[in-house]
Amino acid sequence: MYLTKAEERILNGEEGETKELAMKLLVAIGDAYGAPKMIQASSAQISGVSYKTIGEPGLGFLRDMSSGGAVAAIRAMLNPAGMDLDRWKQFNIPTRFAEKQLEIMQCFKKMKIEPTCTCIPYCDENAPPKGEHIAWAESSAVVFANSVLDARTNREGGPTALASSILGLTPLHGMHVLEHRKPTHLIGLTCKLNHDLDYALLGYWIGRNLGASLPRISDISHATSQDTLKGLCASMAASGSVSMFLMGSGGSDEETERISVGRDELVETERFLSSDKSFEHVALGCPHLGLKELKLVASLVSGRKAKKRLWCFTSRHVRDLAQRQGYVDSIEEAGGEVICDTCIVVSPMAESGIDGVVTNSCKAAHYLRSLNQVEARLMDLQECVEYAVS
Ligand code: F3S
Repeated sequence: MYLTKAEERILNGEEGETKELAMKLLVAIGDAYGAPKMIQASSAQISGVSYKTIGEPGLGFLRDMSSGGAVAAIRAMLNPAGMDLDRWKQFNIPTRFAEKQLEIMQCFKKMKIEPTCTCIPYCDENAPPKGEHIAWAESSAVVFANSVLDARTNREGGPTALASSILGLTPLHGMHVLEHRKPTHLIGLTCKLNHDLDYALLGYWIGRNLGASLPRISDISHATSQDTLKGLCASMAASGSVSMFLMGSGGSDEETERISVGRDELVETERFLSSDKSFEHVALGCPHLGLKELKLVASLVSGRKAKKRLWCFTSRHVRDLAQRQGYVDSIEEAGGEVICDTCIVVSPMAESGIDGVVTNSCKAAHYLRSLNQVEARLMDLQECVEYAVS
């Protein structure tokens, strides 16, 4: 690929070893995908933050990068870590795990990467503007950024997102190129989507059946709530290598394969993913809960007592906002727990003697089964809360 003189100097090690390594990584990816050049990225979102997912090799890499002087050149944020960084003892996180996790956070801090620890980096004021090139790694956030916000990002890995954060660059290929943002399939719905879980099931069906596709879903529009769309994005990215979908009807010049999806497909997907057993834990917040969702949970549990363990995962930023509004107190007075910086999948919480969880997330159900050998029972968010308090 073409490199500017300044980029070549970095590649030749003239600006230090960590920048050289970062440039080598991005050039290798660019060459593999036929990128003609690098472009500026305005922000990076880095995955591989939990000690559970990266272990010693990942920690070693971060130690080397941070002690080598790597520093973010653009806004850089983090995916969820392996525990609530303040209250980890409350959730029985083993001390050794916590020490490793805190060391990971120190490495990121040294590299001037913000400890956002969330998979919804787009919430509130943080959404990148339309058309902006970014380098994000969390797959659900990638689909959301491309499809809902019309920003442009490939599904980065943790190391490439870190490299982009250090250099402020990303190779020009894939979702950064307008021609690649055209639909491959047109999905027509033959049933009404009744609640958030239906949207998530639809997303899971698409990823599972169409793989690396770019579907247009004609019956869904930008008017759908962002919380609903984030569940759709997450499940599509979990079951298939989807980076983007389109909403609404396209132009007549779009020639795509047409596919109908209806209640049978959603029911079959639910049967595939969901257990019918009863469990003692309810986990909400995959992707992390937004403020409106916490408000809803708070109103549903108000004046009641949870009979099951009710875990609500969110970002520290959203938890702080929810605290000010009194939602956190309402949930915790009812016996629920509002946990931040982490999630049910990347923390060791689901490993400690839990046979299964009730959740509204197809992504959580997918990864709990494949990574943790933990079963999940799917319910809509409101049903999950009802289940927890009854
Ligand atoms: Fe987010 Fe963890 Fe789910 S990172 S999308 S809550 S698996």
